[in-house]
Amino acid sequence: MRKTVKIVDERIKTMMYYMAPLEGVTDFVYRGLFDRYFGPADKYFIPFLTPAEGGKLSRRQKADVLWENNEGLASVPQILTNSPEEFAALAVRLHKWGYREVNLNLGCPSRTVVSKGKGAGLLREREYLREFLDRIFDKADVEISIKTRIGAEDPEEFDMLLELYNQYPVKELIVHPRTLTEYYKGAPHLDAYIKAMKKSRHPLCYNGDLFTAEDVQRLRKKCPGVERLMFGRGLIGNPSLLSEIKGERKAGPSVYLEFQNALVEAYREKLGKEKYVLAKMKELWTYRGMTGLLGRTGIERIQRTRSLKEYMEEIKRSEGEEVNA
Ligand SMILES: Cc1cc2nc3c(=O)[nH]c(=O)nc-3n(C[C@H](O)[C@H](O)[C@H](O)COP(=O)(O)O)c2cc1C
Repeated sequence: MRKTVKIVDERIKTMMYYMAPLEGVTDFVYRGLFDRYFGPADKYFIPFLTPAEGGKLSRRQKADVLWENNEGLASVPQILTNSPEEFAALAVRLHKWGYREVNLNLGCPSRTVVSKGKGAGLLREREYLREFLDRIFDKADVEISIKTRIGAEDPEEFDMLLELYNQYPVKELIVHPRTLTEYYKGAPHLDAYIKAMKKSRHPLCYNGDLFTAEDVQRLRKKCPGVERLMFGRGLIGNPSLLSEIKGERKAGPSVYLEFQNALVEAYREKLGKEKYVLAKMKELWTYRGMTGLLGRTGIERIQRTRSLKEYMEEIKRSEGEEVNA
């Protein structure tokens, strides 16, 4: 019995842990500083890039993916499009810039994206999706992984999607087990993920609602054999989460404060005006509440701060108070 426990515990150290792409949150500044203070994560997924004709990117998106802004990080750029030509053109550029893997977004549920038939909207157009996949996998120089939801309206759609994905050399299939219409509501369908473990011929990665080390333990109990995990909101809210899961020593408050300081300085340089930097930092704090590390009053106090000085003072205070919040 003891031996089993030990093997399981050892396994948690060799699992793969990824940072999810969060558009507007996990930009290159955030990814780089996270890596320095709390990393490494096994992969960092770059939030979606939306190529125009010829695979062209906006200045902001290009900066996010530039090799020199991602040096030393295992970064995977993600592409959001329904045009096989634009996907291929951008994949060629990314390959030239040094990337070996790109990720296809079949999960974004935002109305503006879905109404254009992109992201999770592509899951509604099964025949077109097949055509699209045929074309992007044909002659691709880079490896292509997919981040998907389990269907548009009905979890039962996942069977057909898995069969479809099985027809391509998908590098890795990241599954957020909710449908498009569920958005982020309700519990993830773990039964759908278990189905994927049985039916998919691709390496699988689980994503969704992992906010604490206990959440991971529960998931591993329900889905034994899960090997790869992707973290979004939980990791932003608690950057120490990966080391907590692996049973490593938790980074103390001072590391967290240094990280906060470094973010403020880096965003000052990137965004300029104090009010933009403050808005950015406050946005990051909204995720802290989801991890149970800070109570509502703590979050509200931080949201009420009017300058970066006040903000940093409040952070220091809350770090001291966190345990009792
Ligand atoms: C603000 C925000 C931005 C997101 N941007 C992206 C994105 O660019 N690409 C993507 O595939 N998913 C995106 N997602 C979804 C996350 O990657 C992830 O799938 C989702 O948050 C569920 O995982 P979590 O429960 O660990 O947060 C975004 C989610 C949020 C909250």
